[in-house]
Amino acid sequence: MPKIVFLNEGKRAHVAAGRTVLDVALELGVAIGHVCGGGGTCSTCRVACVLNPENLSPIQPNEIAYELGENVRLGCQARIEGDVGVRVVPIPRAILV
Ligand code: FES
Repeated sequence: MPKIVFLNEGKRAHVAAGRTVLDVALELGVAIGHVCGGGGTCSTCRVACVLNPENLSPIQPNEIAYELGENVRLGCQARIEGDVGVRVVPIPRAILV
């Protein structure tokens, strides 16, 4: 089972391959935005994959549209396929209201 570590909160878990980063973050109580509920349309669930970004599923077209930057993914679209380390990207409050 792959391991994911949320480096900014020191939380970690072994998870079934194929789960999304957002699902696991919410299960662990990691503070992460998810305004659209995981639909891939709000971009508030951004995570920077700082360890083994190649172990996340391929980038989806809607992620490309957001121009997220190198190794930044939407947590609701990125599926865990191997060990990874991520940091939640803080979203400015202005975007959330
Ligand atoms: S929760 Fe909205 S894009 Fe991921």
